Amino acid sequence: MQQNSLTVDGARFWSTIDASAELGKGPRGGLRRLALDESDGEMRRLFIRWCEEAGAKVSVDRLGNIFARREGAEDLPPVLIGSHLDTQASGGRFDGIVGVLAGLEVLRSLEDRGIETRRPIEVVDWTNEEGARFQPPMLCSAVFAGKVSEDWALARTDDAGVTLAEALAGVGFAGSAPVGGREIDSYFELHIEQGPALAAEGLPVGLVVGSYASMGMRIEITGDTGHAGPTPMAERKDAIFGASLIAVGVNEMGRRFAPEGKATAPRIEAWPNKPGIISERATLYVDFRHPEPEATQAMAREVEVLVAEAASKAQVEVEIAERWEFGGVDFSAELLTLLREQAGELGIGTLDLLSQAGHDAYNMALIAPTALVFTPCDGGLSHNERENTRLEDQLPGINLLLNAVVGRANR
Ligand code: GLV
Ligand code: MN
Ligand code: MN
Repeated sequence: MQQNSLTVDGARFWSTIDASAELGKGPRGGLRRLALDESDGEMRRLFIRWCEEAGAKVSVDRLGNIFARREGAEDLPPVLIGSHLDTQASGGRFDGIVGVLAGLEVLRSLEDRGIETRRPIEVVDWTNEEGARFQPPMLCSAVFAGKVSEDWALARTDDAGVTLAEALAGVGFAGSAPVGGREIDSYFELHIEQGPALAAEGLPVGLVVGSYASMGMRIEITGDTGHAGPTPMAERKDAIFGASLIAVGVNEMGRRFAPEGKATAPRIEAWPNKPGIISERATLYVDFRHPEPEATQAMAREVEVLVAEAASKAQVEVEIAERWEFGGVDFSAELLTLLREQAGELGIGTLDLLSQAGHDAYNMALIAPTALVFTPCDGGLSHNERENTRLEDQLPGINLLLNAVVGRANR
């Protein structure tokens, strides 16, 4: 390691991971901390306290995105570090959380040494990255980047019909700062890999050079109720049958597009959803991803065919009610060069990777030079309460983040 390289306080960083793991504990050792629920509110307040103790100035925008700012010597656009503190319904302790708390540790490390950077450095916790409570995922960074409107985001509802606006007010995070509309020098996100490549190569850091073009759809299926016994098979309008045909077809499509392509139907709901009665309505979500945008488009056309076939076979009406896209973005060549140089100086081995999961970095890449850095997680397992990693697996990536951010802020 070069003499002038900086290092973070690993034990201090890990103590913040441990504290986070107590808020919204899942039944199997992970986290269930849905966006803007009570535990997310607690986590947010703790994060703000930590940031303020590190001397940062905290602001909350109208979508609850939290920014902690450490001023620079000059009034220039900030270098932003971020990720998310919300989790999946059955999530791990690291997905997203590592990136936000690594950002906090960067601020604390600079404060420890009294280092002044030329540009300000900010750390952000984006609201509702997972899309587990409000769909689509990465909702509030999408507004920040100008991809969707603030009003549209505020009107999204959760399963109980609560709007994002109501949830923000309920948990005390309907802030007053405008959402976006300001210049960002650059954006860095550190995230667990959520795949097995780093462990397989025995390397501590992944540099993300591209992202899967990904698509989600909400599909509404409408049939009619009827008795599960006497109704003749030829006369049934079975919404669950229609939804199932699409779900099976999407999974078969994923197998045909494998290994690069991925596809699933992650969610199905039905009504009345009782024994003895044919279901009148079903809502199905589908999710498919491929590194080649044309292949993702081809998959979308296949889903449209599946929808028509299911409608005819199950004698139901099927509508693709909503679709959303993310990924397929380019990351900054300049930031990748900086990260490679810094990794070289720190003696950290890196692997070039594509990102398959969604990340707020995809939205930020639309408006600022953006870098996404991966760190290992055991078995590539995530969105699972057994998601796991250790401090020593995260430290190389966090030290790289610290040095790259300082390099960028001082240029
Ligand atoms: C979001 O994190 C996704 O990959 O769906
Ligand atoms: Mn994540
Ligand atoms: Mn996730």
